[in-house]
Amino acid sequence: MKISVKVPATTANLGPGFDALGLALDLWNETEFLPTNDKQMALTISGEGLGKLPTDASNCIIEAALQVYGQAHKPCNGLRIHCINRVPIGSGLGSSSAAMLTGMLGANALLGNPFSQEEILKMAIETEGHPDNVAPAMLGGLVASIVYEERVVSLKLPARANLGQIHLTVVWPDFDFPTKQARAILPKQVERKDAIYNISRAVLVTEALRTGDLDLLGIAMTDMLHQPYRIPLIPGAQLALEAARQAGAAAVALSGAGPSLIAFSSKVNKIIGKVMSHEFEKAGLSSKIYHLQVSHEGAEVSIL
Ligand code: HSE
Repeated sequence: MKISVKVPATTANLGPGFDALGLALDLWNETEFLPTNDKQMALTISGEGLGKLPTDASNCIIEAALQVYGQAHKPCNGLRIHCINRVPIGSGLGSSSAAMLTGMLGANALLGNPFSQEEILKMAIETEGHPDNVAPAMLGGLVASIVYEERVVSLKLPARANLGQIHLTVVWPDFDFPTKQARAILPKQVERKDAIYNISRAVLVTEALRTGDLDLLGIAMTDMLHQPYRIPLIPGAQLALEAARQAGAAAVALSGAGPSLIAFSSKVNKIIGKVMSHEFEKAGLSSKIYHLQVSHEGAEVSIL
């Protein structure tokens, strides 16, 4: 039996929805799992992360798969895993969440699904630490999450059917900005006015995405809790954000903890990516441009 797992990229935060909102994107990692009896964990990669990601037992997919075997109290007699990676690593597009879900979903399917989708989601969120990438990667579309009495409740929100027609431009500068570092630089306490600023706007971001109202998205997708601390640390990012707005983007935000920026527009506008990339280049950084759409679908598991 061979299992195939597809998991989408995600963009977390969406400006004011810090650690709460996330959106699945139409860019997929595809991974095949083949059980063996040779006691070996063999992993190969093509695409993103080739030559950078470990292929031994410290690989996040293997760790996540073995976590599921452990939770199910089942031995793993060996696995051959092949990853076709399209989600760039360390970009702010949820590659580590995608890897974790991939490993957990693959192992769960090989074991005959001892865990429900909800249980796998819970396991992945507990391991990852925050839900805003993992939950949309699993469920697809726009997802809001809360932590409630030590449980995470993640809800897929209604999003307009043509949300998939909103055009997303992601520009990923070649700048090392690990999530751990991007979280460590945030203040431990915030002012009440900043909390109110974000709460009110996060609600309107979900409404703008529900109705497809890009003008509303433009005024709501700003933030006081993380972007003002992170953006100045990414060379060229502030000017890239402003240039994207001037080039016609309705809204622009840091994607997750960065360093990528994500711009929303009603139609494909290649100028947006070019002007953002130009600002990063002026700051000494090369960058990659992705033209993406929202994915209403989340992770998929199939038996081959
Ligand atoms: N919300 C997280 C952060 C990143 O901004 O630090 C993704 O989980």
